[in-house]
Amino acid sequence: MTDLIQIGLGPWGLDWAAKIFPQLPDVRVTGWVDSSPDARAAFIASTGAAPDTVFATVREALEATGAVAAIAPVAIGAHVAVARQVLEAGAHLLLEKPFALDAATARELADLAAKRGLVFGIDQNYRIFPGAPIVRDLLARQAVGTVRRVSLEWHRDHRGVRESNALVELAIHHFDLMRYLFGRDGVAITCVPVAPVRSAEDRTPGASLIVELDGGLTVDYVLASQGAGPETPWPGVWRISGDDGLITWGAAPDDHRAVSITDPAGNVTAVEVPELPLFERAGVLRAFVDAVAGSGEPTSPAADNARSVAMLEAALTSARTGSRTKVGRW
Ligand SMILES: NC(=O)c1ccc[n+]([C@@H]2O[C@H](COP(=O)([O-])OP(=O)(O)OC[C@H]3O[C@@H](n4cnc5c(N)ncnc54)[C@H](O)[C@@H]3O)[C@@H](O)[C@H]2O)c1
Repeated sequence: MTDLIQIGLGPWGLDWAAKIFPQLPDVRVTGWVDSSPDARAAFIASTGAAPDTVFATVREALEATGAVAAIAPVAIGAHVAVARQVLEAGAHLLLEKPFALDAATARELADLAAKRGLVFGIDQNYRIFPGAPIVRDLLARQAVGTVRRVSLEWHRDHRGVRESNALVELAIHHFDLMRYLFGRDGVAITCVPVAPVRSAEDRTPGASLIVELDGGLTVDYVLASQGAGPETPWPGVWRISGDDGLITWGAAPDDHRAVSITDPAGNVTAVEVPELPLFERAGVLRAFVDAVAGSGEPTSPAADNARSVAMLEAALTSARTGSRTKVGRW
């Protein structure tokens, strides 16, 4: 049995508690943390948790429970401070996306975890949709030859995204998927947000982006929470065109399992996409808990995820300046 504390009792933290932890019977949450008294009271009222297991600070929760690890579906603005508290207290951490808003901070925290020998993973759960490893494998096997063009569309009528900064909320997932699928890092990003973005706190319901990856590959990426039309699945609809065919992943409305290959003559072949043993966050949590127990590594180790954060940082800078922005490399 692995004992954890959970930091963050907002809408997404409640979703973790209700839907994800029950899927892993060998994982037990023994303490909950939120800095908001209202969130703590609402959590106790809705779950029946004992009030003496719900804390205002990370330190109190770790001391009282003796847990060796934490999962943090906490407000984005608190990610960096909470990560530092958990790691400095010597606990392993699974932190929600976006890890941080700049790559230097992400790297510093990943280094802190490494120095202390702690497991530090980021919940980049779109990697654990069943189509993701299938498409990655097709690309690794050059199933459509040399890839020449990529387009990615994400469109959902989603209030939470519309009323936030869609780059911070959503684009981090897609930057991370680009790195995962193609095995290439970002080179430069040109980002035209729907609404002006001077800082990460500014809201924009979407953006149009040109994302340049290593090796001269460019992704045309549209992120939209407005406008009529069928909704894409959360990972989006991908069209990956190579010399020998076209890979399509995702279909609207909301089909994340559709993968097909269209040959140059136009014949379409569906690709089998088996279910994963554990879907999205449950798979992320399984790998994290196993890594804490000494087996394997998280699905998105923080040190690797800092490179996805570097793409988000470039997109935010491009949105602010209106210029093509190089992605930080190290
Ligand atoms: N992976 C996904 O697909 C996905 C989907 C939705 C949300 N998320 C992420 O989950 C996280 C939480 O989302 P949410 O909508 O519940 O966020 P939220 O803004 O409602 O905040 C969650 C809670 O964090 C608490 N909090 C703020 N600062 C704190 C601190 N310093 N210490 C302890 N608690 C603190 C708040 O009081 C709040 O109750 C975010 O990081 C978001 O990006 C991920």
